[in-house]
Amino acid sequence: MAQQVQGVIAPGRNEPVRVETILVPDPGPGEAVVKIQACGVCHTDLHYKQGGINDDFPFLLGHEAAGVVESVGDGVTDVAPGDFVVLNWRAVCGQCRACLRGRPWYCFDTHNAEQKMTLLDGTELSPALGIGAFAEKTLVAAGQCTKVDPEVSPAVAGLLGCGVMAGIGAAINTGQVGRGDSVAVIGCGGVGDAAIAGARLAGAAKIIAVDIDDRKLETAKTMGATHTVNSRTGDPVEAIRALTDGNGADVVIEAVGRPETYKQAFYARDLAGTVVLVGVPTPEMQLELPLLDVFGRGGSLKSSWYGDCLPSRDFPMLIDLHQQGRLDLGAFVTETIGIGDIEQAFGRMHDGDVLRSVVVF
Ligand code: APR
Ligand code: ZN
Ligand code: ZN
Repeated sequence: MAQQVQGVIAPGRNEPVRVETILVPDPGPGEAVVKIQACGVCHTDLHYKQGGINDDFPFLLGHEAAGVVESVGDGVTDVAPGDFVVLNWRAVCGQCRACLRGRPWYCFDTHNAEQKMTLLDGTELSPALGIGAFAEKTLVAAGQCTKVDPEVSPAVAGLLGCGVMAGIGAAINTGQVGRGDSVAVIGCGGVGDAAIAGARLAGAAKIIAVDIDDRKLETAKTMGATHTVNSRTGDPVEAIRALTDGNGADVVIEAVGRPETYKQAFYARDLAGTVVLVGVPTPEMQLELPLLDVFGRGGSLKSSWYGDCLPSRDFPMLIDLHQQGRLDLGAFVTETIGIGDIEQAFGRMHDGDVLRSVVVF
């Protein structure tokens, strides 16, 4: 029997979101229904609403979530009703070439629930990133659920489901930041700040935050930045070099997603350094670089996809570090809001006033 719950729908391109009654089916084989306790508001939800991702309206928004498993379908063994879980949008298949080669974070065949949630009139909903967690309950593939310590606040835990994991993972998984490294992070929104927190966790000696907004640089300091550079007031490449004895940083993390900042990241690294690209460019963006610079500078250029995370490995570890006071995930929660407040939260996010607004149920 499908259950009726309240969920937040993006009905059409650029139309305001609204709370509607939706139908959540019982879980089929390999699926789970999760009672959502908290879900963060992310730029990607806004992009769905604006039609920037695809045109499969209506969307059921929300994807940075934590909650309690209510029921599971046949064949589900990894999670059980009552488990406290963080949801992820890349449930790996375990069978593709990437998975079999031991690099499941590059899985080619991630999956979501087979069944569809619908509106009362039967219209099928497209859940954001295969999750749809601005809802009292949602239907996901069981592999999208990762059990974590139930003592942690759901508002904090849910953030690992997307942006915060992307940033921390860019530093610790993709960038492999090590003790004593110098790290520069270009762009200090939620993702860049998480990269700073990840670099601190990994033992970086110098963490240089770069942004065009002094307010963002102030917050970056609280996340672990040891130096700040406002790139409105000078060349950030020069500034990063000056702060690293002329060498450039061992790891430069780009968390904006624009050609000029990609270029800055490329030139701000040490000759043997690593550039990590976590900012997502738009399809029309191009970058031109002298090939001799690409050839002659060694090092590596890596993109980071969802922080190259493995949820079953990384979520419980990061929650444990948070619980021990070694990683302050709570610093990313600017405010908690209700399910009816998401449209206004999009406005505050767009104006750069919040790191994360989190809907609590
Ligand atoms: N130089 C430096 N910083 C910049 C520049 C620039 N030219 N342009 C913008 N910024 C800063 C903004 O001031 C802001 O602090 O980059 C930050 C971007 O932060 P958000 O808009 O909050 O975005 P965030 O959620 O952190 O995501 C950043 O990572 O995962 C991707 O899709 C995501 O591309 C996006 C990026
Ligand atoms: Zn796979
Ligand atoms: Zn997100």
